[in-house]
Amino acid sequence: MRRYRNEIIIKPSSVIKKFTVGEIALEKMVYKQLSLSNIKTAEIIEEGEDVLVFSRLDGPTMNALFETSEAHQDDFLPYLHEWEKYLRMWHEAIKDYRYGDVNMNNFIYVNHQWIGIDFEQIVIGTIEEDFSDMMCFILFHSPKLTEYKYQLVRRWLQSLTKTDSQIPVNWERKLQEALGRLNQRRNSNEVLDMHKIMGGSV
Ligand SMILES: Nc1ncnc2c1ncn2[C@@H]1O[C@H](COP(=O)(O)OP(=O)(O)O)[C@@H](O)[C@H]1O
Ligand SMILES: [Mg+2]
Repeated sequence: MRRYRNEIIIKPSSVIKKFTVGEIALEKMVYKQLSLSNIKTAEIIEEGEDVLVFSRLDGPTMNALFETSEAHQDDFLPYLHEWEKYLRMWHEAIKDYRYGDVNMNNFIYVNHQWIGIDFEQIVIGTIEEDFSDMMCFILFHSPKLTEYKYQLVRRWLQSLTKTDSQIPVNWERKLQEALGRLNQRRNSNEVLDMHKIMGGSV
């Protein structure tokens, strides 16, 4: 079973989050900023010194949707494009920072759109770092580095390269840096077959 960083109690219609390691002030700041920008979030129902109570978002996590998609070999790219849209809005609202913890448990699919939660690990940074972190989260989600995952990330990158054409991004480098962050977090020594992601055409 997955262990969360903080103490989480999931009730039928609310979620209680007691901050044991996380930074409640950052989480609150992001919630405030998102609501000022009219970006849909969970609702904060109650707040205490180290506790926030949220409305429970009713939908699958990205994790669950992704696992089902891979099991059925369905195309996950449309969901990733939706997620990309959400993250672009998020970055417009939370200037200068990046999400930080874009792991797939932190996004919930409600009424055909993604809603992010868990903002306590925001750091100064760029959207490209969040995107490349997400690529690594996908690639190393168990079972890691399947053909399905390589293909998905490769196709996502190809579409990103098209939309980000004003100032070309060195995605190979971004991805290597994200891999470095993943290895540091997990104290691991994973490698990626960059040719499978960057090389040739699909
Ligand atoms: N508002 C919410 N609605 C539905 N599920 C939630 C909500 N908040 C948290 N969860 C569930 O609880 C998990 C842990 O919450 P999260 O805020 O990510 O804590 P942590 O910082 O410990 O990872 C999430 O991955 C999600 O599955
Ligand atoms: Mg989380």
